[in-house]
Amino acid sequence: MTEFKHVYISEISKYEGQDVCLKGWLHGKRSSGKLHFLQVRDGTGHIQAVIFKGDVDEEMFKAADALTQESSIVICGTVKEDKRSKIGYEIGVKSVKLITESIEYPITPKEHGVAFLLEHRHLWLRAPRQQAIMKIRHQIIKSVRDYFDQNGFTLVDAPIFTPSACEGTTNLFETTYFEEKAYLTQSGQLYMEAAAMALGKAYCFGPTFRAEKSKTRRHLTEFWMVEPEVAYNDLNDNMDLAEDFVEYVVQEVVKNNRKELEVLDRDISKLENVKKPFPRISYDDAVEILRKNGQTFEWGDDFGAEDETTISEQFDKPIMIHRYPSECKAFYMKPDTENEKLALCVDMIAPEGYGEIIGGGQREDDLDVLLTKIKEHELPQEAFEWYLDLRRYGSVPHAGFGMGIERAVSWICGLHHVRETIPFPRLMDRIRP
Ligand code: 4AD
Ligand code: MG
Repeated sequence: MTEFKHVYISEISKYEGQDVCLKGWLHGKRSSGKLHFLQVRDGTGHIQAVIFKGDVDEEMFKAADALTQESSIVICGTVKEDKRSKIGYEIGVKSVKLITESIEYPITPKEHGVAFLLEHRHLWLRAPRQQAIMKIRHQIIKSVRDYFDQNGFTLVDAPIFTPSACEGTTNLFETTYFEEKAYLTQSGQLYMEAAAMALGKAYCFGPTFRAEKSKTRRHLTEFWMVEPEVAYNDLNDNMDLAEDFVEYVVQEVVKNNRKELEVLDRDISKLENVKKPFPRISYDDAVEILRKNGQTFEWGDDFGAEDETTISEQFDKPIMIHRYPSECKAFYMKPDTENEKLALCVDMIAPEGYGEIIGGGQREDDLDVLLTKIKEHELPQEAFEWYLDLRRYGSVPHAGFGMGIERAVSWICGLHHVRETIPFPRLMDRIRP
C-alpha cells in the first residue's frame, strides 16, 4: 500500500500534480473494461478516482471492481486537473485500500419513499442533498450567532425544564420534575426578558418543544429557536431588528453556500432579493388582501398556512404583519394604545409560501395589566411571580422575537417540508432514529 499525505477533498486544488491519499467512502462506481471510475466522498466533497488497469496490480484492480456502495476506503494517487468535473480535479489511482465493507447499503441510487428515508435518517444524511442542507443549516446558525454577537447582544441560555408555559397550554410537553410538574420549554422568551433587564440586549439559542398534534409540513415537536430581547425597544425597533437580522442571515448564505444552493436547485436570485426594507402591513391590511382574493376570513382569527401563502404571494420579499387581534395571541403581548383590541406584535412571513418564520412583539410592561392577563388566560400566577418581578423592579418597555431555525432553513434551502431541515427530526409520529 502506497502511503502519501492524507488530504481532504475540499482542499484538493492545492495538490495538483502531487500524490496524496483520501480517506472516505465509496459513493458510486462504474466500470468500462480497463477503467474503474470510483465516486469518492469524504464529507468535505466528492471526487472521481480513476483506476487504470495498467496502473495497479491485477488483484487490486479486481478488488476495486468488487467494491460496494458506502464501503469505507483509502484511495492514494495523483491529483490531476479535470475540467469536465464539478470540482475541477480527479485522482489517478495508484492504490485502493478497503477499510470496511458495506454490505447491501439500503439507500440505493433508485428513488425511495420519504417514510423509508426517514426510517434510515442516520444513513440518509450521507446523500449529497442532505449534506448540502446540513451545511446551509450550519451557516444559518453561524450567521445568527455572528449577527447578535457583532451587535452587542449577550448570549444567555434559557432553561429547558420550566414551570411557566410561555405559548399557551395546548401543546405543552409535560414531565415530572422530582415531586413537581414541569414542562419542556416552548420558548426561552420569558427568561430573555429577565436577561434584557440585566444586560440590555440578550439572546438565547436552543431547542424548544411543542406537542403539535397536527401533521403539517411546518411543524416539528422539537425545534431550535433563536430569541433576541432588547430593553427599551418598541414594536418598530423590533421590526427594524428582525428585518436587518434576516437580511444578514440570508445574504451570508448566498455569499458562502452557492455550491450547496446549486445542489438543491434553489433559485438564488430570489434570495439575493431579500434586502431591506421588507413590506410592513397591518393585520387589517392582510385580512383585506385575503378578502380581495376571494377568501372568507373572520376578523379575530390567526392566519393559517394557506392564508399566509395567499398574503405572501402579493410580495417578493419577506413581509412583516403587525398588530394582530390580542385574542389570538399570547398573554404577554402589549395592547396598542390606539386600539386596545390589537396587540403590538409582529409575524414575519417568508416569501414563496414558506410561511411564518418569526413571531414576536412588544411585551406588556405594566404589572397590573399583566396580572389581569395571566388571570384571563387561566395561567397559574405562582409560576409567573418571578416574571411579574420584572415589572415590580424598574419595568421598561421592551420587545423581542423568536425565529425558528428549521423554518428559516426550509425557506432558504427551498424545501417543501421541515423534516429535512434538522438532522434527526422529531414529528408527531416520529421519535426514531
Ligand atoms: O410564534 P412563536 O410561537 O413565538 C414565540 O415562541 C415567542 N415566544 C418568540 C419570542 O418572541 N421570543 O414561535 C416563534 C417561531 C415561529 O415563527 C416559527 O418560526 C417557529 O418559532 N416555530 C416552529 N418551528 C417548527 N415547528 C414548530 N412546531 C414551531 N412552532 C413555532
Ligand atoms: Mg407565531
